[in-house]
Amino acid sequence: MKIGIYGGAFDPFHNGHLSMVKGAIASKKVDRVIVVPTGMPCFKSTRKVTLAPYRYYMVKAALKDVPKCEVCDIEQVYGEPSYTVTTLRNLREKKIVSEKDELFLMCGSDILFEFESWYKPDEILKQARLLCALRPGVDEGQARNQAAHIEEMFDTKVKFFEIDGVEVASSRLRSTTAGTKWCEEENIPEEVRRFIKSHDLYCEDAPLMHVSDETYQKLIQHSFTLFREMGGKRLLHSMNVCVLATRYAIRFGADPDKCALAGLLHDCAKELPEKEQLALAAKIIQDYVPSKQILHSPAGAVYAREHYGVEDQEILDAILYHTIGREIMTLTDKIVYLADKVEPSRDYDDLSMIRTLAEHDINAALIECYCAIKESFARKGQQIHEDTKKSLAYLLANRSQ
Ligand SMILES: [Fe+2]
Ligand SMILES: [Fe+2]
Repeated sequence: MKIGIYGGAFDPFHNGHLSMVKGAIASKKVDRVIVVPTGMPCFKSTRKVTLAPYRYYMVKAALKDVPKCEVCDIEQVYGEPSYTVTTLRNLREKKIVSEKDELFLMCGSDILFEFESWYKPDEILKQARLLCALRPGVDEGQARNQAAHIEEMFDTKVKFFEIDGVEVASSRLRSTTAGTKWCEEENIPEEVRRFIKSHDLYCEDAPLMHVSDETYQKLIQHSFTLFREMGGKRLLHSMNVCVLATRYAIRFGADPDKCALAGLLHDCAKELPEKEQLALAAKIIQDYVPSKQILHSPAGAVYAREHYGVEDQEILDAILYHTIGREIMTLTDKIVYLADKVEPSRDYDDLSMIRTLAEHDINAALIECYCAIKESFARKGQQIHEDTKKSLAYLLANRSQ
């Protein structure tokens, strides 16, 4: 089988990328296309690239209905820089493609002019041939001349295919399309627009730019581990909590590093088997067994320490108290608790009031949030947890301070 391999940061995935995939399939030069979103880019500053799981699931959303095409997570599971040569080798080793498959590395004609400077171009071409897109408006003669040069230099054959559509650059989209304008951006597929909106990506304040380099590296590494350990929905939720908690930290004067880490890891134990969660929780709770709904909080605090190397007690506490709170919450506790309940993809209730209050008064937002939970429990004939009651009472008693 002839397989097109299409790698990229896809930050964001746009119609230019979509035309590459569809064009390659329509050209019949390949039988199917495997799209490989970059895990950790080697050439760009990691700060400038959106965290990998966001980009991976964005591409999945964009291509879910495109036939003969699949999105591959091979670069998402390794927490190290992704070189094309390694990815091609891994695709064979992990049997995502077979030894018999013929691989074609899909690229734009601009790549022909920089290909020689790539990492190990000769080895890349031992594993795959270049399949180069000719977009309307590109200088075909120049591209074919450069291809002839590469063919001679590396003893390979470069293939071409034609595609429709205009040149779009992700970097230009990121710099010109700030904030809410993403939902009107016509160079972005509808599914991607929806994805960007529901996860509040590419927002102007870019909270993660405010965390330290050391913490940013940890966020990257942890998101690779989380990718392997939890499903997409929960991972995206965790990343949303991470970003929102960081925004709140900046707004209310908490430590952005701590809030970012606690936010990302707050549900880290939630998809572990119940037995494992019980064993983890028992290390810090001896006098009772937590109910199923809140079990992942103590389990998560222990797991974050043992598995993710978190030593900071403030972070561990924010994870421990994120489901029910405690009488006297630290600012970090409050931020993570609230971010968990109102992160942008949450749509279970009308959260607008809580979100508005959280723009300037974290205590008022938390009171509103507790009251909403209390009412929803009451509708089901249930009561909120004793610790949540205490936390609410404490906040109400100290309201004006
Ligand atoms: Fe949770
Ligand atoms: Fe959560």
